[in-house]
This record gives sequence, C-alpha cells and structure tokens, in this order.
Amino acid sequence: MDSQFADHLKFFADLGVTGVSRDRAWWSRVAVTPLSSPEATEATSVPTSTAVPAATAVPAASDSTQILMMLKDEIGPACMRCKLHALGRKQVVFGVGNPNANLMFVGEAPGADEDEQGEPFVGRAGQLLTKIIEAIGLKRHDVYIANIIKCRPPGNRNPEPDEVERCEPFLFRQVASVQPKVIIALGKFAAQSLLKTADPITRLRGRRFNYRGSTLIATFHPAYLLRNPSAKRDVWDDMKKARAILQGHE
Ligand code: URA
Repeated sequence: MDSQFADHLKFFADLGVTGVSRDRAWWSRVAVTPLSSPEATEATSVPTSTAVPAATAVPAASDSTQILMMLKDEIGPACMRCKLHALGRKQVVFGVGNPNANLMFVGEAPGADEDEQGEPFVGRAGQLLTKIIEAIGLKRHDVYIANIIKCRPPGNRNPEPDEVERCEPFLFRQVASVQPKVIIALGKFAAQSLLKTADPITRLRGRRFNYRGSTLIATFHPAYLLRNPSAKRDVWDDMKKARAILQGHE
C-alpha cells in the first residue's frame, strides 16, 4: 500500500474513525494529497526580544531541563500576577514534555481537567492531541506542550488581554529554553496570540511563520476537531508539514 495512504488511514483509525464508506464523497475527503511544495517563509512582526532574560535566551540543550524547573519555581504554585488566582483556578499548569523537544505545541489555557491534574491537554481534547502526535510517529513525551496562559479562566472563557500580558513572558521563556524546531499553535486563540494578529485561523493555516527562531505553523484546536471531525483532514495536512520540516525535507 502507498505509504502516504497507509499513514492517512492510520491517522483516521487512531482518531477513532472505524470504517470506510463506498461513497465517492467519503473517499474524496480522505484522499491523500501530496506533500505540498515548500512555501516561502513568512516574516512576522512578532518582537524577538520581549522579556527573555539574557541568561535564558540561548541555553545549551542540557540546560533546558534546569531552566524550565527554575522557571516553574519562579512562577510558583500560588502565582498572583493576574486576576485568575482569585477566580477559581485550582493550580498553575506549567507545561510538560521533553525539555529539548524539536516539536512544541501551544494551546490556549488549561480547562477543567488540566486545572484538576496540573498538566496541559489531559482532557478529551488532550487525548485527541496525544493521538495526533502519535499519528506522526512521536510519543507525547517526545514533544513539549504548553499554553498561552497557565491558569484556567472561569467557565473556560477566552483569556483576557491583561491575563495574556502577565503570563505570556513565561511562555516566551519556555520557547527560548526548549528552542523547538517547529511550534504548532493549536487553534485560533493560540495562533493569534503568538503571532499578534487578528487574522482568522483559516488564513493562518497553511502558512509558516518565523517565531523566535522556530518555524510556527497554526492548525485547528483538538477541541474544535471533536466538534468538527471533517477538519481532521486539514490537521493531518498540517501534521505532515510539521513532520517534513522536522525531518529536514522542507
Ligand atoms: N485546551 C487548551 O487550549 N489547553 C489545554 O491545556 C487544554 C485544553
């Protein structure tokens, strides 16, 4: 079997699609599209110097574990830098994974499960993210996962600008420490926050951005995929693109 086609079927199977259809429309939806040709790297207006202390800006790979631990300590378990500490969050959800990962995922904010367990992406959307990671041959512990903000907003509302402003310097320092080759922004909020743009996710997908020395691509949030399974095809395209960059093929 064509290996791209096999990959594609595995992705769908891993995501819980158990059958195939005789319907031509179904096949046209899953048909393997060739890896796209390299696109021009886009420059962005993202500042490169925000709140990254010189000491942590260019760590040796072996320092990254220590830097992340120090950063977590610096935030502290009872962070009160923004109002979310008084709005029902149970704990700070820092980040998880390989401190030297080549691939980093950035989501929006912890939800109820993450607030309970202290780890990003452990709820239903997180379980789907784990399958998406595995679909490109990696394990969850191979990558690094963090959010734009580290505390759960009440009722899962979007993070507010003052909350992002107080918290995102820590994400910048996580990125500076991990120095991933590729960052995948999960969903509209993460993509817009990282890229400082109001462009819709549909305009940000399919492009590449240079973000603080990493290649950033944006894709749909796994929670969106749970509601809109047909978007899995686009996510698979994005994941193939990330895999090609990681493998040095693009
Ligand atoms: N959604 C996110 O954006 N982040 C999480 O950690 C969980 C759900």
